This record gives sequence, C-alpha cells and structure tokens, in this order.
Amino acid sequence: MTGIAVFETVSAMRAAVAGWHVAGEKVGLVPTMGALHEGHIALVKEGQRHARRVIVSIFVNPTQFAPHEDFKKYPRTFDDDCAKLVAAGADAVFFPSVEEMYPAGFATRVLLLGPAAAGLDDRFRPTHFEGVATICCKLFTQSRADFAVLGEKDYQQLKVVTRMAADLDLGIRIVPLPTFRERDGLAMSSRNRYLSPEERALAPMLHRVMQALAGRIRNRDDLFRAVADAQGEIISAGFELDYLEARHAETLAHVTSLADGPIRILVAARIGATRLIDNIAV
Ligand code: PAF
Repeated sequence: MTGIAVFETVSAMRAAVAGWHVAGEKVGLVPTMGALHEGHIALVKEGQRHARRVIVSIFVNPTQFAPHEDFKKYPRTFDDDCAKLVAAGADAVFFPSVEEMYPAGFATRVLLLGPAAAGLDDRFRPTHFEGVATICCKLFTQSRADFAVLGEKDYQQLKVVTRMAADLDLGIRIVPLPTFRERDGLAMSSRNRYLSPEERALAPMLHRVMQALAGRIRNRDDLFRAVADAQGEIISAGFELDYLEARHAETLAHVTSLADGPIRILVAARIGATRLIDNIAV
C-alpha cells in the first residue's frame, strides 16, 4: 500500500486525467526519475499553485543514460518517494515499466537542434538530450496534462524540453522553477547521495565560484578573464571540470559581455565518481 493512486499503464493514467478534465480540473505533470528530495517536492507544490491535480511520473529512463553511466545504480526508492508524495498532497504517480514506455520494436527518437547542440552537456553526454526529449514527448502526450513543471537545476534540459514542446505543438505549457538548494548552496540532486563526506564538503564550492563570477560579470570585468579565473579555481580545488561557461540565458549561445543579453552561468564538474551540474543567472 502506497497511500496514493499509482498508475502503471498509459491507459490508466489517461483515464484518470480525462476524468479530471471532464470535471473541469486542470492537471499538472511533474516528470521525475524518483529518488525524490525537497527540490522535487517544490515542483509538486508549484504544480499545485497552477492546478487542482498534480501527477508525478517516476521512471528511470534508460535512453538518457550512456552505457558507461549510472543507469543501473541510479537510486530507486519507490516506497519512500510515494510517502513523500502523499505528504505533499500529490494526486497520483505514473510508474510505468520499461516495456510500457519502450515496447518491443520501439524505434523512434526526437532529433534536436538549437539548445540541445549548445556544446554544454551535449558535448559530454552526446545521446542524453535525445533520450530526455523522447521520454518527455511521450510523457506529455501520454498524460495530456495541461502543463509540466521542470526545475532550472537542469537548465539545458529545461531549454531543450521547452523548445521541443513548442516546436512539436505538444499543447503543454512548461513551467520552470528555480533550483532548490541546501543551506550551504549545493543544488539539490538525487545524485548528491553518491558523495562521500569529504566530497559533500567540497561540493558547494561550485555555487560559490559561480556567484563570484556573476558578480564580476555584473561589474563589467573582462568576461573571458573572469570565466578563466573561475575555471582555474574549480580545477585547483580538485574537481575534474567538464565546463564552466557564461552563455545567453535563452539561446545558450556564446556571449562576450552583458551587452549580448541576459547571461546564465553553467557548470558541470566531477568529484570522484559523481558528476555535478549547476547554473545561476547573472
Ligand atoms: O530531470 C529528470 O529527472 C529527467 O531528465 C526527466 C525530465 C524526468 C526525464 O527523464
């Protein structure tokens, strides 16, 4: 017993959503891979601000993991997740099997350009966004929700999915929500539980370095020098840096100064076996 309605099939979820719609109720979807933390609960709460009904999908999506990545060891905490969703007042969980989402013969992917090819996470995870977009496209059309709430923590993902939903006329609105942080600034992530105590102590540095960099950019310091200094700090602290960049906040295109438009700082770095990503507005 989970204490919350759990739908394992698309048809069961669709029937529930159709019933809510017939009753004149708006429906929000919060797509997740489970291992829920306060950041996910904030997404649920945001959904409840916009709609009477909120459904949360929990699906560790194999197509967004490369063969060497952590699909097998990704934390799966279904009972705990359901308890948190009951406490948050969510209406239902969509918890499909891999076979339900990718039946035998499945042979389709969403092909992405624009923000998915910005040279950020896509450079290090070349098949990742294709998998994310494909599963989000399926979840959106399966659920027929009015909107989906996505966190800014995965900023490139947010831009990719927002672009895709508009480009493919999926009839769903994407509601973004600012990143939920630990008290020391570390962005909440299901993967934080992989960190050793020493790594956990070092991890908030990414946020501090980005804040200092944002200050320098706002003060009109030379952007290239400021970014290079920040990259150096992260590497000297012992991280393996994938990227730390200042990009246009909407298009993710390269920028040279604040005159180019709103700027977002994005970082991806590894400590030990854990890859952390984060971003902030300038
Ligand atoms: O951000 C995530 O948890 C996943 O990428 C998502 C959006 C649920 C798609 O699997």
